[in-house]
Amino acid sequence: MIKKNKIVIANWKMELGFKESLALASKMRDVFRDFSKNEVVICPDFVSLSEIGVELKESSVKLGAQDVFWEEKGAYTGEISTRELEEVGCKYVIIGHSERREYLKEDYSLINKELKNLVKNSNLTPILCIGEKKEAREANKVKDVLSDQLKQALEGVFLKGDEQIIIAYEPLWAIGSGLIIEAKDLDEVNKIIVQTITEIFGDKIVKRNFLKIYGGSVNSENVGDFVKIGDLDGLLVGGASLDSDEFYKIADKILD
Ligand code: PGA
Repeated sequence: MIKKNKIVIANWKMELGFKESLALASKMRDVFRDFSKNEVVICPDFVSLSEIGVELKESSVKLGAQDVFWEEKGAYTGEISTRELEEVGCKYVIIGHSERREYLKEDYSLINKELKNLVKNSNLTPILCIGEKKEAREANKVKDVLSDQLKQALEGVFLKGDEQIIIAYEPLWAIGSGLIIEAKDLDEVNKIIVQTITEIFGDKIVKRNFLKIYGGSVNSENVGDFVKIGDLDGLLVGGASLDSDEFYKIADKILD
């Protein structure tokens, strides 16, 4: 049985300016200086990544990006390649965040291209976001929505060796709302995810190559609820990751 490390990921979105991002990154480095639990990741905006990469060079805090393009190079105005992200020290990249699905109209065929390119041409670990809207939950359509998102995103993706994909389940109604999912509902979602990806990849790859994490209004007060959920490999944290002490408390509680 492979021992998989748990992971806590900070998503800073577009909440901070450049100087604020650098200041928070250096606070994170200090706060986590003697932290030996795995794995803590921060995802600042693109502009701040390269300086923060230097700041975190010797740190236990790892670096991630909030998005990436699916081609390696070329006439793609405004886009960023996997190669550049690796060059500045990124190890992870979020793809298909619900805010990009909503405001930039990203869909799962586009997310699929990003994922295929990431797996094929880079050493970055993708953090693939899925999640249903409130209306879908109320209409008992959670299974349909999530398995459809996963099937589209993962179509034609081939994993070699121990390449990992992190699936971040973030129900849209829980993001930034203060509402969190109940344990029994999260258990249910974890089963849907495992069943869907097992149909695609088989049991061995699912156990070896996939992590499942949750995101949506997690903070240091409610993180205890998630510690009890056995089949959860970590958390994706937005608002509460903008304070280094608050983020430390979350990481300390959820990580082994
Ligand atoms: P939140 O954001 O923790 O502020 O709800 C989570 C996310 O969108 O990744």
